[in-house]
Amino acid sequence: MRLQKRAITAVLASTAIIASVAWTQIRGAVPQDVASAQQTTTALANMVVAAVMNITENTKPETVVANSEAVTLILAHCQDHYGLLAGTKPPLNPKNVPHDAFETKALQLALTGQTTQVVQGNRLRTVVPLNFVQKCALCHTNFAGLPLNAIVGAAEFNVPIP
Ligand code: HEC
Repeated sequence: MRLQKRAITAVLASTAIIASVAWTQIRGAVPQDVASAQQTTTALANMVVAAVMNITENTKPETVVANSEAVTLILAHCQDHYGLLAGTKPPLNPKNVPHDAFETKALQLALTGQTTQVVQGNRLRTVVPLNFVQKCALCHTNFAGLPLNAIVGAAEFNVPIP
């Protein structure tokens, strides 16, 4: 019960964060199309946060390996539209580090609690902070001992502008 409450708080925190984007750069894109891509991003981000919280709630010591494989499979399948970035602790997957200037800057801002959004060509890229709850440390053993809601990394979304 207690853990469930914590999970809901974390989902709401992430939802609230994406509702107040700190910095959006829009050049040469039609505003209505960008607004549509922003709505898609919000829906996608809420779904991903809910999925991560669900898998976290349903992980026990004996299912860490199997459930971790599920996290990896989803990420691999969705890699054109969704990714995860490590914060201050070394990542489980060494590939989950910034790959370009946008990700580098957006991750820095995410670690201060801010969401960043940019239009690049016909894509809307968004990086949102990810908050710690205790059970994350079942798989991410190096998160152990962090306070509730500490920012441990970021999720990135890459959505086509219609
Ligand atoms: C069932 C195990 C599991 C749980 C629970 C879990 N994760 Fe992960 N997480 C993973 C795996 C596995 C990866 C690497 C996936 C890949 O890229 O192949 C990962 C990747 C990440 C990354 C990117 C950096 C890295 O380590 O590769 C962040 C940030 C992250 N998770 C945050 C969280 C947060 C926050 C929670 C709790 C709300 C959480 N995770 C719960 C398994 C888990």
